[in-house]
Amino acid sequence: MRKDGLLFYDEYERFYDMAGKSLAFGRFCKDAFGEDFSQDGFSDMKQVERIIDLIPAGDDVHVLDIGCGNGKMLRYLQRRTGIFIHGFDYSGNAIKAAKEMSGEKADFRQGAMGETEYPPESFDVITSMDTIYFAPDMEKFLLHAIGWLKKNGVMIIFYQEGDVMPKTDGPGATILAKSLQKTGIRYESENITEETYDLLKKKRQTALRYRKDFEEEGNADWFELLLLQTDCVTGSFEQFAQKMARYIYIIRK
Ligand SMILES: C[S@@+](CC[C@H](N)C(=O)[O-])C[C@H]1O[C@@H](n2cnc3c(N)ncnc32)[C@H](O)[C@@H]1O
Repeated sequence: MRKDGLLFYDEYERFYDMAGKSLAFGRFCKDAFGEDFSQDGFSDMKQVERIIDLIPAGDDVHVLDIGCGNGKMLRYLQRRTGIFIHGFDYSGNAIKAAKEMSGEKADFRQGAMGETEYPPESFDVITSMDTIYFAPDMEKFLLHAIGWLKKNGVMIIFYQEGDVMPKTDGPGATILAKSLQKTGIRYESENITEETYDLLKKKRQTALRYRKDFEEEGNADWFELLLLQTDCVTGSFEQFAQKMARYIYIIRK
């Protein structure tokens, strides 16, 4: 995998190294999100349940997570539904951990979006949480990844605005939505900005509870980052919603 030009590559290597070692971070994730999936983002169990709702019944169901990190979320989906799990992520530390922890019916690959390849019509469900916008050409990558879906397959994308992506006027106006509209691909969207505000508040309160644990481990810098990431919820919801938004997109093939 070529590393030049990959956004935040070194930062994510450091993040997954910390996530693999830090007890404070594991406890923080469990308390803030409901399960420890080494989340670097916004995905709590309510959002994960939305993926589960889309997984069909059957013995030969394949689910891909784009930007799977260390694969903990996929393994949870597998425990709940018995699916085959597939994931890729550019972080070597994340994929090493994913491979060490995974059992049967699992395929984890280190790779970048735009370079990692699967045969057409491989997956029943593709999910991507807070990752798709790191693709060098999001529209091109998205169209290509839809080709990996089986007929009647579903893609679910969790999409944040206000940090990596600019804030637009609503779920129909995002860069992702515009790409889908241009190509005529069917999609549904859900605005989960309000529940994200509540989640980020919980994330901040939980981080503050674990401050001492982070510091004693020598991970005070990660604690500081958690505070920085949740600074946006120290004001009212109205103030938050002026700058940030979160949407779910469901694309049906
Ligand atoms: C914001 S984190 C989200 C991780 C996880 N999906 C979650 O919800 O907690 C973004 C993830 O995408 C991965 N990533 C970022 N850019 C990537 C790229 N160009 N190709 C593949 N993976 C990438 C990072 O290593 C990280 O695991």
